[in-house]
Amino acid sequence: MTSEREHHWRKVYTDKQPEDVSWYQATPEQSLLALDRFGAVPSQSLIDIGGGASTLVDVLLARGWHDLTVLDIAAPALAAAQARLGEAGAAVMWAVADITDWQPPRRYDIWHDRAVFHFLTQPAQRTAYIRALTNGLAEGGFAIIATFALDGPEKCSGLVVERYDAEKLAQTLGSGFRLDASWRDVHLTPWGASQAFTWCVFRRLA
Ligand SMILES: C[S@@+](CC[C@H](N)C(=O)[O-])C[C@H]1O[C@@H](n2cnc3c(N)ncnc32)[C@H](O)[C@@H]1O
Repeated sequence: MTSEREHHWRKVYTDKQPEDVSWYQATPEQSLLALDRFGAVPSQSLIDIGGGASTLVDVLLARGWHDLTVLDIAAPALAAAQARLGEAGAAVMWAVADITDWQPPRRYDIWHDRAVFHFLTQPAQRTAYIRALTNGLAEGGFAIIATFALDGPEKCSGLVVERYDAEKLAQTLGSGFRLDASWRDVHLTPWGASQAFTWCVFRRLA
């Protein structure tokens, strides 16, 4: 059965082109910065949570990564990414799932989430996400999580979000994760609006 959330996101990606959504970026600069800063290498596995039609997977494939998974609640988002990638997309694992209702089938070295966790406004949703993160991230692996900052927009895609600074996000994730780095970035939407983000890198503790 389609949930309200799935319906919302399916409609977004059916009605709009990937370049026309507020979160569009031609190059995922902050994500690449985080990966480079933490010495990530193409032999590692990475899952992009709520990856949508992001071009992160394109860049990583071009850099020689070969164990990539993109998970999203909206099948049309993944279809857009697959169409753009063509044959190269066959090397990627694509998963249509709600992260709050998903049991990782394996563990990944790197968990990447740009602008997804902040949609989880209910404690039970966050608990479910953190359970998936704990089960899906290898011990010692790292999670790159970007949310709207405390002074960022109150809504995204018409949905209310929970905003974070690094301390609040670290407290929310709990003692199983150590905050290794955080920084602020201001994303410019395709129409030039500024959106302040908090970027964090967490290490999963044993
Ligand atoms: C703001 S967009 C960000 C997309 C992508 N991470 C990027 O940076 O371009 C949020 C994405 O999260 C997905 N999403 C929202 N709620 C989700 C959930 N509960 N489980 C999985 N994906 C979800 C949406 O379909 C959408 O693709």
